[in-house]
Amino acid sequence: MMAPDISRFLLAVLFSASCRVIIASDQICIEKEANKTYNCENFGLSEIPDTLPNTTESLEFSFNFLPAIQNRTFSRLINLTFLDLTRCQISWIHEDTFQGHRQLSTLVLTGNPLIFMAETSLNGPKSLKHLFLIQTGISDLKFIPVHNLENLESLYLGNNHISSMKLPKAFPTRNLQVLDFQNNAIHYFSREDVRSLGQATHLSLNFNSNDIKAIEPGAFGSTVFQSLNFGGTFNLSVIFDGLQNSTTQSLWLGTFEDMYDQDVSSDMLRGLCEVSVESLNLQKHHFSDFSSTTFRCFTRLQELDLTATHLSELPSGIEGMNSLKKLVLNANNFDQLCQVNAASFPSLTHLSIKGNMKKLQLGVGCLEKLGNLRKLDLSHSDIEASDCCNLPLRNLSHLQSLNLSYNEPLGLQHQAFKECPQLELLDLAFTRLRVNPPQSPFQNLLFLQVLNLSHCFLDTSNQQLLAGLPVLRHLNLRGNPFRDGTIPKTNLFQTVGSLEVLILSSCALLSIDQQAFHSLRNISHVDLSHNSLTGDSMASLRHLKGIYLNVAANNIRIIPPRLLPILSQQSTINLSHNPLDCTCSNIHFLTWFKENLHRFEGPEDTLCTNPPSLRGVKLSDVQLSCGITALGIFFLIVFLFLFTVLLIFAVKYLLRWKYQHI
Ligand SMILES: *[C@@H]1O[C@H](CO)[C@@H](O)[C@H](O)[C@H]1NC(C)=O
Ligand SMILES: *[C@@H]1O[C@H](CO)[C@@H](O)[C@H](O)[C@H]1NC(C)=O
Ligand SMILES: *[C@@H]1O[C@H](CO)[C@@H](O)[C@H](O)[C@H]1NC(C)=O
Ligand SMILES: *[C@@H]1O[C@H](CO)[C@@H](O)[C@H](O)[C@H]1NC(C)=O
Ligand SMILES: *[C@@H]1O[C@H](CO)[C@@H](O)[C@H](O)[C@H]1NC(C)=O
Ligand SMILES: *[C@@H]1O[C@H](CO)[C@@H](O)[C@H](O)[C@H]1NC(C)=O
Ligand SMILES: *[C@@H]1O[C@H](CO)[C@@H](O)[C@H](O)[C@H]1NC(C)=O
Ligand SMILES: *[C@@H]1O[C@H](CO)[C@@H](O)[C@H](O)[C@H]1NC(C)=O
Ligand SMILES: *[C@@H]1O[C@H](CO)[C@@H](O)[C@H](O)[C@H]1NC(C)=O
Ligand SMILES: *[C@@H]1O[C@H](CO)[C@@H](O)[C@H](O)[C@H]1NC(C)=O
Ligand SMILES: *[C@@H]1O[C@H](CO)[C@@H](O)[C@H](O)[C@H]1NC(C)=O
Repeated sequence: MMAPDISRFLLAVLFSASCRVIIASDQICIEKEANKTYNCENFGLSEIPDTLPNTTESLEFSFNFLPAIQNRTFSRLINLTFLDLTRCQISWIHEDTFQGHRQLSTLVLTGNPLIFMAETSLNGPKSLKHLFLIQTGISDLKFIPVHNLENLESLYLGNNHISSMKLPKAFPTRNLQVLDFQNNAIHYFSREDVRSLGQATHLSLNFNSNDIKAIEPGAFGSTVFQSLNFGGTFNLSVIFDGLQNSTTQSLWLGTFEDMYDQDVSSDMLRGLCEVSVESLNLQKHHFSDFSSTTFRCFTRLQELDLTATHLSELPSGIEGMNSLKKLVLNANNFDQLCQVNAASFPSLTHLSIKGNMKKLQLGVGCLEKLGNLRKLDLSHSDIEASDCCNLPLRNLSHLQSLNLSYNEPLGLQHQAFKECPQLELLDLAFTRLRVNPPQSPFQNLLFLQVLNLSHCFLDTSNQQLLAGLPVLRHLNLRGNPFRDGTIPKTNLFQTVGSLEVLILSSCALLSIDQQAFHSLRNISHVDLSHNSLTGDSMASLRHLKGIYLNVAANNIRIIPPRLLPILSQQSTINLSHNPLDCTCSNIHFLTWFKENLHRFEGPEDTLCTNPPSLRGVKLSDVQLSCGITALGIFFLIVFLFLFTVLLIFAVKYLLRWKYQHI
């Protein structure tokens, strides 16, 4: 028992380490991309710091103090393309402030109490595309010096006191795509206001929360819009009057929780018949007389969003909804899936009933008329079923994506998704699944590529669980514990050789058998983070090359030299948040780490835990010299000397003993 202790002592003496920490000098502002992108947010600065290089292209400078800006302020940074000056208490923008900034394409002035903007302040940036003047106290559009902004694409004017959308004559509208007037005080629109938009077509206009009281009938005329948002309007008839004969891809007429609102009647929606709309959103409204007549002017719609409209049923007898492709019924009060009366919407390809406020019963064949359905979202809907999912999903033979995540326990029998043979994506995350081994609920899903089984409380020792999935590429098993904390040699991965992405984080793993991933030849991404693995488990990746490997937040202290070649052949490794050993016993790894720094993501979180003197120091900053020190040499010489003396005595004794016995 003494021998190993002595040798350990000797080793410790021989290799007494000398460590030095190199920590980069603190610099003002955070460099995000060398010489190009900097973040100086909230540094209390009152000028551009000299440490910023002239080559800076993107600068986040919000929450500083620049009461007045002028031609000197940014003159050094002539190559700026993005400049964020949110809440810098800017009141004055003087002449020629951006004179030299030809490349500037995005300027954010949000949250500054602007008093003055010189006529020439925006003359320089000929390529300015995006201008943010949110919450700047503007009440009149004439305040904005725009005559040089031919390339302006989006102008954000939310949270101001603007009372008319009429653009000044010189306003360049040719390239305009987005005009955002949220939360202003525009109560009335005339034909002339809309005409000031000039040549702009396919605009996205946002008048959310403006308390619109009246619009001149037909004011929006025969213009074509990309999207129109009149959210929070008290009386919807007003909007439809103004939109007569106009065309828009999407029309947002939703309202908000805190608004006292008039109920929407079928009569109010009559005006929709005179507007050409593809996608309509009416979220959070109350309907006063919800019936099949409500849908009378919806027949040309392709998308309808009735999120949180307090519905417990869709009426039967809705007719003519053959164009509707996408129906969103999230956050309503259905008891049963059949109450959706799906047969009224025979062309649906997308149906979403997520976040239902009541426990949703799946029923039998409620969606069976939706033979074209491609995507179904039933997540967060309190669904519970002992035998899911063939009866509820009957006839959904074209379904490609099914989301049943965040529901109550579901029992899955053998071939539980036989009715949906075209499934490509199945999301069951955070839904407790009951599977009887050795059954395979997913058998015969010949096209399934993505399977999310995170936090499903699965029995991972069921080797047949994933049988019959020939093209599965992405598997998420996060949060499903493995028996005894180990992945054995024979396991459930043997049937899914096509896997490319495997997520096994938070699976309470202590170890992985060397052969565990043997059948996974196409894998390119392995996430083993948040387990309790040690360095030895890396041996299971011996046959893999060029993968992304995440072993963050494990129990890795030491990585022995024999495993370094395995890490060397991978492309990216995340080793952060491990209790790494920075003593000489790990010197091979530490040396290799520095040579391979480019492979590691999150090196700023890859820190030493041992020895205590180096706790919290970045691995890349550690300088260890594990040579033999003077003290070590002294001890070595003494040791060798003693050993030689001992040997001589032993030989002498042996010879003497031998002679005595001749
Ligand atoms: C940044 O600029 C410095 C000095 O001009 C130069 O030495 C360095 O190579 C540049 N770095 C990059 C990533 O361009
Ligand atoms: C600005 O960009 C141009 C073109 O990329 C380059 O030639 C010039 O050196 C840059 N100037 C500064 C100060 O970075
Ligand atoms: C800034 O303006 C002053 C006064 O108009 C002028 O003398 C100076 O040359 C300008 N500086 C730059 C960098 O344009
Ligand atoms: C940055 O630009 C300023 C003014 O244009 C100039 O005086 C200075 O020498 C430049 N700095 C570098 C490092 O090129
Ligand atoms: C809408 O178009 C129709 C037919 O082109 C026309 O009769 C009607 O006056 C227009 N309505 C408005 C308000 O311009
Ligand atoms: C809604 O506006 C229309 C005119 O567009 C008006 O006839 C109707 O009375 C208004 N309804 C209410 C309740 O104010
Ligand atoms: C199944 O869907 C098809 C359309 O794909 C439809 O024609 C048929 O009527 C549906 N079957 C039943 C039983 O509803
Ligand atoms: C399924 O629904 C959940 C919750 O609504 C969502 O977080 C998740 O992204 C969805 N899955 C897919 C594949 O879209
Ligand atoms: C399940 O995984 C898929 C694919 O990574 C992802 O899109 C989806 O959001 C995940 N679901 C949940 C609930 O996080
Ligand atoms: C691995 O990927 C290749 C190329 O994408 C493919 O041909 C092969 O079938 C895949 N192997 C498995 C077992 O799916
Ligand atoms: C490394 O992995 C951990 C755990 O998954 C994650 O939180 C962290 O963001 C990753 N680091 C980087 C730089 O992506």
